[in-house]
Amino acid sequence: MVQERTLSIIKPDGLEKGVIGKIIARFEEHGLKPVAIRLAHLSTREAEGFYAVHKARPFFKDLVTFMTSGPVVLMVLEGENAIQRNRDIMGATNPANAAPGTIRKDFATDVEKNTVHGSDGPDTAKAEIAYFFRETELHPYAYRR
Ligand code: CMP
Repeated sequence: MVQERTLSIIKPDGLEKGVIGKIIARFEEHGLKPVAIRLAHLSTREAEGFYAVHKARPFFKDLVTFMTSGPVVLMVLEGENAIQRNRDIMGATNPANAAPGTIRKDFATDVEKNTVHGSDGPDTAKAEIAYFFRETELHPYAYRR
């Protein structure tokens, strides 16, 4: 059983739609445990740095504008196969292509306002978690139920 950690962001549209709780419930129902949670309103510099890999893409400027348009929820999710599991729960980047029952299918508006972000691999997860959280801000715990 490989325990992994991944970075999850509930984007500004998720907060505006009032679905923070529903989204976190889905993670918990699927065995992903939040071990760090914080609200933040990203600065332009923070959003540009976070999405630096997309700097050359035509949607970069709009992406940064959207991600700084309101607060977000930053989370570290922990669980078995957490990186891929989170991606499965989120659904395809473009909600038009997302499978039924996924977060993006149920809550997202379009490819920009797609409600959630999740790390796409082990190296990215490590870098993205470190971008927003110190090690001392991660608080693992066990279920007793
Ligand atoms: P995310 O998983 O946060 O990673 C990069 C984001 O760029 C992506 O989700 C989308 O919300 C956003 N984006 C905006 N336009 C596009 C596009 N045309 N193709 C891919 N991603 C896009």
